[in-house]
Amino acid sequence: MWNKASRSARPPRIIGTYSDRSYAAQPGRDAETPAARVIAVSSGKGGVGKTSLVVNLSITLAAMGQRVVLFDADLGLANAEVLMGITPHRTLFDCLYGDKDLEDIIIPGPYGVRLISGGSGFLELANLDSARRQQIIESLSYFDRETDFLIIDTGAGISKNVLGFVAAAGEVIVVVTPEPTSLTDAYSLIKVLAMFKVHPEVMLVVNRAGDEREAVRTAQKIEKVVGQFLQIRVNSIGWIIEDKTVGRAVRDQEPFSMFSPHSPASQSISRIARYLVTGQRQSWVPSAPGVRGFVQRLARLFN
Ligand SMILES: Nc1ncnc2c1ncn2[C@@H]1O[C@H](COP(=O)(O)OP(=O)(O)OP(=O)(O)O)[C@@H](O)[C@H]1O
Ligand SMILES: [Mg+2]
Repeated sequence: MWNKASRSARPPRIIGTYSDRSYAAQPGRDAETPAARVIAVSSGKGGVGKTSLVVNLSITLAAMGQRVVLFDADLGLANAEVLMGITPHRTLFDCLYGDKDLEDIIIPGPYGVRLISGGSGFLELANLDSARRQQIIESLSYFDRETDFLIIDTGAGISKNVLGFVAAAGEVIVVVTPEPTSLTDAYSLIKVLAMFKVHPEVMLVVNRAGDEREAVRTAQKIEKVVGQFLQIRVNSIGWIIEDKTVGRAVRDQEPFSMFSPHSPASQSISRIARYLVTGQRQSWVPSAPGVRGFVQRLARLFN
């Protein structure tokens, strides 16, 4: 269950800008952790708040001094760009098939978050010839030196695409709401992830909980049934309260962590961000961690 000690702590103020502290000096990171943490955010059921979480978590981590790349791999409509009020002109697809370099497709977002719009780019990796693919992997490994977190919005469901991103990432967050259908769909997703045997655990975030009791009850239901039937751990890393600010911020196309940094939802996100920075990373992925490993695994999976 989530860390009770951190619950009463004040959320970090959203004041920081892009930090250029040395890589090894980043909190929660040591010299033996050379690669970026690649975290896929997914859900069984759609519309549970993945994009909200990805956008606001990225911004909050960046405001805490972390170097963050947000990779939007969801081809849906209400995507991260929309929530941030950004219109991307180029996607990874232009980088693979056009004459664009990686730098040309990175969109600067709030607090130094760098946004990459995937388009169908990553899925095309498998179709590239091996020399070109290696070239792309090399250029993406730039992020391993320059990034603390690569956070991926994968979209919902158990499609090959979603599962590919989740399996290739070093860590995974599954978002769930207290609704029964969201719980059963989350269980189905976790079941498939357990079959992949890539991740020793999934991190769970309960979104849209009315209060902490409801969040705890929801997390416990998943923990219990997964514990009974599946060979994978559930690590409940936090919950986000149902908050009207979220909808208002969406309408204004401004992330709620900026629109209203002291709102209950923003404070929920801050607690999750703090856990990610100070908590331990978990991965069974044996070699080639970070962005480079992620891309290599992804290319293999889609081949
Ligand atoms: N904590 C919250 N409180 C209130 N409303 C919320 C909360 N989280 C998300 N929402 C609302 O739920 C809706 C869906 O959120 P979001 O687009 O982030 O979900 P999603 O999981 O990314 O959806 P999709 O599967 O379609 O990509 C949005 O209208 C958002 O405003
Ligand atoms: Mg979404």
